[in-house]
Amino acid sequence: MTSGITATPSADRAGRVCLITGATSGIGRAAAFALAGHASCLLLVGRNANAGRQVGALLQRKHPSLDVRFMPGDISSLAAVRQLANAVKSATTRLDILINNAGARFDVFSQTPEGIEATFATNHLGHFLLTARLTESLLRSSAARVINVSSSAHAAATRPENWLMTAENYDRRQAYARSKLANVLFTYELSRRLAVCAVSANAVHPGMVFSGFARNNGWVSWLKHLVSHGLRRELISTKHGADTIVYLATAPEVAGVTGKYFFKRRAISSSPLSHDESLARELWSASIRLGGLDTSLGPAWNDFTP
Ligand SMILES: NC(=O)c1ccc[n+]([C@@H]2O[C@H](COP(=O)([O-])OP(=O)(O)OC[C@H]3O[C@@H](n4cnc5c(N)ncnc54)[C@H](OP(=O)(O)O)[C@@H]3O)[C@@H](O)[C@H]2O)c1
Repeated sequence: MTSGITATPSADRAGRVCLITGATSGIGRAAAFALAGHASCLLLVGRNANAGRQVGALLQRKHPSLDVRFMPGDISSLAAVRQLANAVKSATTRLDILINNAGARFDVFSQTPEGIEATFATNHLGHFLLTARLTESLLRSSAARVINVSSSAHAAATRPENWLMTAENYDRRQAYARSKLANVLFTYELSRRLAVCAVSANAVHPGMVFSGFARNNGWVSWLKHLVSHGLRRELISTKHGADTIVYLATAPEVAGVTGKYFFKRRAISSSPLSHDESLARELWSASIRLGGLDTSLGPAWNDFTP
């Protein structure tokens, strides 16, 4: 495994070049193991360098010919995402599969050093910026697939007046629900914008998964999360949670399918609000502004507001 970013993945090896955010644990880690057999190069993103290197080493042992690289990066930091995107572009000219999976819920209001509420920054804005900065690499693939990991929690979101909650109006459940609504709105808008290109974009609800989700809030919060879903007999393994993601990334029958919301390998309805195109445009414009994007990334990333 390479932990630095130096070489270009061997062009002579057939297979896909895949990037997974949040690949150091949980659903993303399970997706990496399942995708390893379908890829020539796996780029694993996360903050925990020990865990990242460990996952990389295990994958390398199981798949000696696989080019596995751990790319440390904090997706909630715009500066780190810019750096990460540059590192990806130095590592590979082409990206076939982009899995925007990293995510968290924050029980207490917090902001990134750049002043952006942490749930929105982690779950949506960082991935918006990463996708924007990697569009060129996606367009070099003959059929790129972008998979955004959302949640059924998106359906609990109310229409936000402002995408960034403040310390005064912070509600952890609503902040999480809105960030997951943002994942679906972003997916649909991206698929409309890339309709003429060979890039598909779909969103996924992975199910209620026995993972490290909510552990950033302490053991009590994590256990409460597990117990509440466990009592409802909803919990599934990370491997099962990753199943639809891997299906969307690899299955021939979903080639060209775009702008859908999937659960258990089937396209299902997302909430009515997630289909609101004016809200999608509002989110797009806010993300362009907050992410500091300019027009140099091509027409797909133009703002709606003049
Ligand atoms: N678990 C569920 O029941 C459930 C249900 C619906 C949807 N989801 C969604 O599934 C996705 C994965 O969650 P999970 O259950 O696998 O949770 P998890 O076990 O806590 O894994 C989260 C992953 O995201 C990474 N991550 C978190 N913050 C990050 C940041 N700022 N920068 C880079 N990486 C970051 C973590 O890596 P590092 O700590 O190394 O950064 C970790 O690899 C999330 O988007 C979540 O919203 C989960």
